[in-house]
Amino acid sequence: MKEHWNKVYSSRDTTRLGWYEESPEKSLELIDKCNTNEHDKILDVGSGASTLIDNLISRGYKNIIATDISIEALEKLKQRLGDDAQLVKWIVDDLAHPKHLNDLKDITIWHDRAVLHFLTEESERQTYLLTLQKIVKNKGYVIIASFSLDGASKCSGLDVRRYDENMLQEFLGNGFKLLEHCSYLYHMPSGDKRPYIYALFQRI
Ligand SMILES: C[S@@+](CC[C@H](N)C(=O)[O-])C[C@H]1O[C@@H](n2cnc3c(N)ncnc32)[C@H](O)[C@@H]1O
Repeated sequence: MKEHWNKVYSSRDTTRLGWYEESPEKSLELIDKCNTNEHDKILDVGSGASTLIDNLISRGYKNIIATDISIEALEKLKQRLGDDAQLVKWIVDDLAHPKHLNDLKDITIWHDRAVLHFLTEESERQTYLLTLQKIVKNKGYVIIASFSLDGASKCSGLDVRRYDENMLQEFLGNGFKLLEHCSYLYHMPSGDKRPYIYALFQRI
């Protein structure tokens, strides 16, 4: 997987990738609904080269953590951010086989856009969940955006596991309360459309 994603990010301009967002409006809308202050830790898992990080910096967040399996993706993001890159903690790690992520703690927002759906094996999903349960703080939030049930069955040439809000709730378990969810039709740079489900949970 590491090779796959490094190849993707090193061979294409990030603005042409099939998940690029000039403005991650839906994620920001949900983040703005969370009760946070600027010192809270916000973890973007599988952040790739996402413009979410630029936006979190602009909003004044001081504890932003970007993690991805691909060092190439994070390097592209760092380059774009320039001096602001030092405002972010960077972690190269695999959510399915984490070596560093479990050292984190007290995460206020776990944000995942288009990453969980690549974990198709049950053991990978359970590893992801164990990390999330370990590091998200009590009353912390989990935002997951994934391909919805009427969405595509592949992304970046890889099979995906699609979700609706009930499946995400079942996955996270009753320690997390679904605060809200919505469908969102994402327009790819190519013009194609991809239906997503966005869900916001709070740890209880
Ligand atoms: C479709 S992209 C989404 C990127 C970003 N979240 C966004 O919304 O622009 C999926 C991202 O997940 C990363 N990824 C895939 N599998 C991963 C894994 N097992 N652990 C960590 N990151 C992973 C990829 O490198 C890629 O950056």
